[in-house]
Amino acid sequence: MPLSFSMDEQLANRLTNEIDTCGFAKLEAAVGEADLQQLRSWTDEQARKHQGEYFAYHGEAALADSLLASYWTDPRFKSLLGSLYRHAAQRDARSDRIFPVLRCVQGNQGKRESNAFHYDASLVTALVPVFIPTEGEELGDLMLFPNIRRVRSWVLFNVIEKALLQNKVTRSCIIKGMQRKWLKPYVLRLEPGSIYFFWGYRTLHANQPCGANVKRATALFHFGDPHTGSLATRLILRINQSRARRMSNKAGNQPPAPTQS
Ligand SMILES: [Fe+2]
Repeated sequence: MPLSFSMDEQLANRLTNEIDTCGFAKLEAAVGEADLQQLRSWTDEQARKHQGEYFAYHGEAALADSLLASYWTDPRFKSLLGSLYRHAAQRDARSDRIFPVLRCVQGNQGKRESNAFHYDASLVTALVPVFIPTEGEELGDLMLFPNIRRVRSWVLFNVIEKALLQNKVTRSCIIKGMQRKWLKPYVLRLEPGSIYFFWGYRTLHANQPCGANVKRATALFHFGDPHTGSLATRLILRINQSRARRMSNKAGNQPPAPTQS
């Protein structure tokens, strides 16, 4: 089944206004129940290969035989993400490629991949919840510090900013700040069936931890890297690819795939 929405400028305007004012936008009833079932059984199959531990598949090749392929190739979805990018960046994206990722947080390793605050490389992020835990104390909710930076005109500035924020020391400071209530991210409870949109490049975000015995899976669609083609972007891509390779080798399964953000 295709994604359930009619693409028009009115929809794009509504979503962009919501992202600008609330930090995210929600498109309800966009993913049908049959699609959800299909995505869940595919994810379950992959989760078994990883012995109940964290995994993430990055890029078209790794996800080609999943239903997600029909989403990132959908011209309406491309057009919608393109409109959102145009609004946020005040220009067209240099490519209409949607970069897909499937993240599955489970097991003990999943805890290490939680609270990992970061900015995406791409400006527009669309998130499709697949599995969202409903029972227990730790449910893996999405945390957002929405729209706290602008698109940087200098790629070097972007790289330095990311390096300063995305490291173990800063991460533990952010966690302590949240525990002491000095920092209060917006906590978003995700509902399967909806698609969520936010400015991933401008919004510091991470998921809360989940219990080791539950599964949290989300499909992410990244669109529009404001620094496409720059040397720094290529270097970040290479670092992320080797990280994905290490994670895959640890899990002893899925071959490494291209990655982003
Ligand atoms: Fe992200």
